[in-house]
Amino acid sequence: MEPIVHTIFEPETSTWQYVVTDLSTKTAVILDPTADSLLALVGEKGYIVDRLLETHVHANHLTAATYLQDLLTRDGKKLDRLLDDDEPTFFCGDSIFNCDVGSARCDFPGGNAKDLFQTASKLFSLPPNFKIYTGHDYPPNTPRSTPQAFSTVAEQMEHNKHLRTGTSEADFVRWRTERDAALAEPRLIHQALQVNIRAGRLPRDGLLHMPVNVEGW
Ligand SMILES: [Fe+2]
Repeated sequence: MEPIVHTIFEPETSTWQYVVTDLSTKTAVILDPTADSLLALVGEKGYIVDRLLETHVHANHLTAATYLQDLLTRDGKKLDRLLDDDEPTFFCGDSIFNCDVGSARCDFPGGNAKDLFQTASKLFSLPPNFKIYTGHDYPPNTPRSTPQAFSTVAEQMEHNKHLRTGTSEADFVRWRTERDAALAEPRLIHQALQVNIRAGRLPRDGLLHMPVNVEGW
């Protein structure tokens, strides 16, 4: 039986959250949670949440993963496992976006445009009818103005405005790097990265509110 994917858009940060469930067992997985609205859905449907997944370390908002985990699980076990590349196949987080938005910026810590191009190539090698669910959506005013959760591999390959088939890695890396250099830093990036890399838990020694350059890192 195909899993059911509930899509819940959080407009404040343009974030897609997902609840994926196997109806035969009612077990569910939550991806990229940001808000209490997910709890209402889970409660109403009677789902048993057995996993909370983060597709990436969010730079512009705080994750609700640990908050929801405390509410939804009783064994006190913390979820702390990095998934392999091919495990969360259809949920691409902030790598490629819908075709008319294109791709995510690559200048946050650990990111680079070359890696993003390689990720897109891997996604494009999936079967053409597979759906790719994005981490955010920023719908342009035309031709559409409502958020869209996914597009197919075939649509992405034909229409992605930054990465469609035929785009060379060198051209993409050059363009993406130049564009990122001109973009402003997200308002909450320093706080968000420190909290989200711990799945929503505050650092034990408190938050740093400014970046610190440590010699030798
Ligand atoms: Fe994000």
